[in-house]
Amino acid sequence: MPVAAARRRRPGRAARIASLVLAACAAKAVLAAPGPFEQRFATCLACHGASGQSQTPLTPSLGGQPAFFAMTQLFLLRDGRRGEPVMIEQAKGMSNDDLRAFADAISKLPPPLPPTDKADPLRFERGRALAAQHRCGVCHNPDFSGREQMPRLANQREDYLLKAMREFASGKRLGYGAAMTQELSGLSDTDLTDLAHFFAHQPPAKAAGRPAAR
Ligand code: HEC
Ligand code: HEC
Repeated sequence: MPVAAARRRRPGRAARIASLVLAACAAKAVLAAPGPFEQRFATCLACHGASGQSQTPLTPSLGGQPAFFAMTQLFLLRDGRRGEPVMIEQAKGMSNDDLRAFADAISKLPPPLPPTDKADPLRFERGRALAAQHRCGVCHNPDFSGREQMPRLANQREDYLLKAMREFASGKRLGYGAAMTQELSGLSDTDLTDLAHFFAHQPPAKAAGRPAAR
């Protein structure tokens, strides 16, 4: 076949752009119509907050959590190995594909914003020093944004952080691994409240640090 004829058969630039635009519109139409999954995810966010920023006491913000962390926790919740009855009820009966789909959807929510109340400078400083001394950032990242099976702590609700740490310290919450119970050994309850204050009042996540829309 002559080269010129082959070239003519290739779609032109305009045609390629048009087909891309059509594909994007089709994708948007699919997103716009909430399917059963989106509806179910909306019931999760009724407790966990719109965009994953929780306004509910003792209920964690889910925004910015790594997919792998969300997955391991849903797995433990499904089996009733951690959590409160309200949440265990939600996770009960999820298939492994459900766990993956919810974990994936959670990881795409934007990280939570800092609370509106100002940090107490003394408690913030005590929390900062304790986190540095106990090297919490080695696993949770230096900016506490979390990675892999290690949760984001930055701008999590203070009441929930304290509850989680008290439960690890007392052995009530068994982690996916034993890391957290070990990490908190030797810390007093005052230490835990200062740590929770410090993590909750982290500066807002930089745009560049936000999980890329995957
Ligand atoms: C009735 C309120 C409620 C609903 C609805 C709800 N949750 Fe929860 N969820 C909670 C509470 C409370 C906890 C904290 C449990 C604990 O203290 O251990 C939690 C914890 C979690 C955690 C662990 C987060 C962490 O930082 O450790 C994940 C993940 C989660 N929920 C996902 C979901 C998903 C997905 C749905 C929807 C299928 C859902 N939740 C629906 C109340 C709710
Ligand atoms: C060796 C790694 C490691 C270190 C160091 C570490 N963590 Fe963790 N942390 C984890 C993992 C993994 C989890 C998830 C729990 C699980 O295993 O189910 C977790 C969970 C948590 C949670 C629960 C958050 C949630 O959303 O449920 C809090 C709070 C926490 N860590 C605080 C701390 C603090 C404070 C320190 C320092 C004193 C610390 N961590 C040091 C690995 C670590």
